[in-house]
Amino acid sequence: MSDPRPIGVFDSGVGGLTVASALMRALSSESILYLGDTARLPYGTKSPHTVQRYTQRNLDFLLDRDVKAVVVACNTASALALGTAELAIPIWGVIEPGARVAVAEHRRRGRDPRRPIGVLATESTVRSDAYAHAIRRLDPEATVRSVACPLFVPLVEEGWTHDEVTRRVAERYLRPLLEEHADTLVLGCTHYPALRDVLEELVGPEVALVDSAESVADVVRTGLAEADLLSDGDTPPSHHLCVTDVEARFERIAAQLLPSSKATLELVEV
Ligand code: DGL
Repeated sequence: MSDPRPIGVFDSGVGGLTVASALMRALSSESILYLGDTARLPYGTKSPHTVQRYTQRNLDFLLDRDVKAVVVACNTASALALGTAELAIPIWGVIEPGARVAVAEHRRRGRDPRRPIGVLATESTVRSDAYAHAIRRLDPEATVRSVACPLFVPLVEEGWTHDEVTRRVAERYLRPLLEEHADTLVLGCTHYPALRDVLEELVGPEVALVDSAESVADVVRTGLAEADLLSDGDTPPSHHLCVTDVEARFERIAAQLLPSSKATLELVEV
């Protein structure tokens, strides 16, 4: 059986488009309905209760639009709200898939207990310790050091992904992790893959930079197949972006992150 209904994807803003883009590449027959809660961004500085409330509203919106499954393309919402979300359809977050890749990369580099796995994330994700828990479930011996990088989100939103200012800020955030010789760094916020070039330059080729987007796409493909929810592509797939506040900024970054998509944009209330 084929199910042409869209996969719902949400983030607090534009960052989750890095995940949507990986889904579009890996699951080209699937329609995507993306919700960016731009009116309430950032989530990364908010309390668990607030993020859970926003998450439930986003899920209700996506369910009203008849999605067949949901991807929480926001690390903060995955860390704070996935456990409390109520949904009768499959739902996946980005923390577990990211942790799995991080543990695999750490193992590939010799799994030296003196070399930690570093996690770069928002303040709320760091406070939740969700990555450390997910990583230690897979490798109880692993040392995890998490660093909150609150300035990264506004720098990405500003489009300063290759700027000297961003390099200086990144240098400062990464310093403790480089001093401890971290061998793997998780980009634990969906905005951060946009800073990959700057981060790669600072850490060098020996350190793995982990972006969960590709592994999320694998998890979703397997999950949809198991639930018999894949689309056979007979109905042409569509990509639709909803935002809770329209900003030129969202359109500009969306055009950069989804260069070949013909995605349509809609302003919505959730
Ligand atoms: N995209 C969010 C995340 O992955 C970060 C942006 C925000 O603070 O809302 O955590």
